[in-house]
Amino acid sequence: MMHKDCERIMLTEEQLRSRVKEIALEVDERYQGKRPLVVGILKGSIIFYSDFIRHLTCPVELDFMAVSSYGSGAVSSGKLNIKKDLDRDVKGRDVIIVEDIIDSGFTLANLKALLLERGAASVIIVTLLNKAERREYDIAPDYNCFDIENEFVIGYGLDYNEMYRSLPYIGILKRSIYEK
Ligand code: PRP
Repeated sequence: MMHKDCERIMLTEEQLRSRVKEIALEVDERYQGKRPLVVGILKGSIIFYSDFIRHLTCPVELDFMAVSSYGSGAVSSGKLNIKKDLDRDVKGRDVIIVEDIIDSGFTLANLKALLLERGAASVIIVTLLNKAERREYDIAPDYNCFDIENEFVIGYGLDYNEMYRSLPYIGILKRSIYEK
């Protein structure tokens, strides 16, 4: 059953399940013999993160960060605001950043630079969704599940005003909801 505020379903539970598994197994192969620190960026990534890590066979450590950019508006400016920092020291660690969506690229460009600055041995970016046409910063995911158009997507962790995160699929939000 589709939520009444959805225009249509963009990615079904089955599509998400099979693609997330496919990407997770590729990443897993790369980290055989290693013990990466898997960093989830709250809150949008939580469902993707939990599905992703369950396909990893290499030993992993889990950690989380919550960030936002200072200021607002269409063009992100300023610095990354760390609302919750990692519990672990990243020095010498192989880090896998897990994000729900890369849009302008501001968040991930800054995060990757920050973790490398802190001494991470390596940092890769794994994303569920990529809105390539919105990119303003020179950064690309190392692994991405789906390239999408510039639509207002909700569900599977993604929100509008903190709602809809628990929907098991990715839907497109009706314009009437965010334009009222
Ligand atoms: C979203 C997403 C990324 C960022 C991507 O987070 O999870 O962190 O925006 O945008 P960018 O590429 O333009 O930086 P949001 O601020 O919506 O927080 P949330 O994960 O808690 O929903």
